[in-house]
Amino acid sequence: MTTGTMIQDNGTPESRTSATTPPPAGTAPSPGAAAAPLPAGAHLSAGAAHAVDEESEAARRDAGDTESTRANRGWWDRNADEYQNEHGTFLGDDRFVWCPEGLDEMEAGLLGPLESLRGLDVLEIGAGAAQCSRWLAAQGARPVALDLSHRQLQHGRRIDGERSASVALVQADAGVLPFADGSFDLACSAYGAVPFVADPVKVFREVRRVLRPGARWVFSVTHPVRWAFPDEPGPEGLTATMPYFDRTPYVEEDERGRAVYVEHHRTLGDRVRDLTAAGFRLVDLVEPEWPAWNTQEWGGWSPLRGALLPGTAIFVCERD
Ligand SMILES: C[S@@+](CC[C@H](N)C(=O)[O-])C[C@H]1O[C@@H](n2cnc3c(N)ncnc32)[C@H](O)[C@@H]1O
Repeated sequence: MTTGTMIQDNGTPESRTSATTPPPAGTAPSPGAAAAPLPAGAHLSAGAAHAVDEESEAARRDAGDTESTRANRGWWDRNADEYQNEHGTFLGDDRFVWCPEGLDEMEAGLLGPLESLRGLDVLEIGAGAAQCSRWLAAQGARPVALDLSHRQLQHGRRIDGERSASVALVQADAGVLPFADGSFDLACSAYGAVPFVADPVKVFREVRRVLRPGARWVFSVTHPVRWAFPDEPGPEGLTATMPYFDRTPYVEEDERGRAVYVEHHRTLGDRVRDLTAAGFRLVDLVEPEWPAWNTQEWGGWSPLRGALLPGTAIFVCERD
């Protein structure tokens, strides 16, 4: 590691040498916060049960790298409690769940055979409370859980504290990874960072840089086709209302027009081209089907929509 913000056991930053700015010091996580209702007009989702903040307006406009990162760091700091409260049980403290469909790495094996994970240096990007990293550690890997949001990582420390175990947590932006070249054997992300960045090629290049030759990079995102549909779990979410080909970001703004949340869209072809441009080879593209056992809704993901439309795309790539 060269730069970054290591998170101490008490959830406070230990040092800060990266480009990230720490959010205001928070109190201990209080996962009892009530979930906000989904207002009419909130039609895209971050993978969280996403609701437009009460004071925010949804818009479609350009949003660059710096604005997107600043907005999303703030949004995830403000909404981490609600996210973990609402989805913590589904995610499990030490499971590797790829998506709202519930695909579990234990069955999927997208990172490689279980026994091959032992001893690997693994980077989890957009790790949230590091649930996936905890699972990786249980397989004998050496994970580092990286996230932009200090509050998300505080939840990671809270879970570790309850289990008297500890995962390495680093607060940093996926576009400026605070690690030396060739530090990791594997990188992964379950809905972390990639849907929120203005310049995914920059992120992919960073991931490639910190990986060793032949390493895998596996990440899940909202299936691009969902961009065309309202983010509603019911029948209103089944009719396309927006052009799939329109890459204009979804932005929520405060009363002064400042972005407080940004989500970026890439078509399926864009993603393949972005990965190739960054020096990855696509090995598989997994579109998990909605399983019969999963009766839960997660924002706009629901059994109704899952039966008809793909909700998640998982890109399995290898570095040359
Ligand atoms: C939908 S959550 C997924 C968290 C976790 N992987 C899970 O499955 O619960 C998205 C995460 O990406 C993080 N994130 C967003 N933009 C990021 C960036 N530029 N760099 C690193 N993490 C980012 C957010 O802070 C948030 O924790």
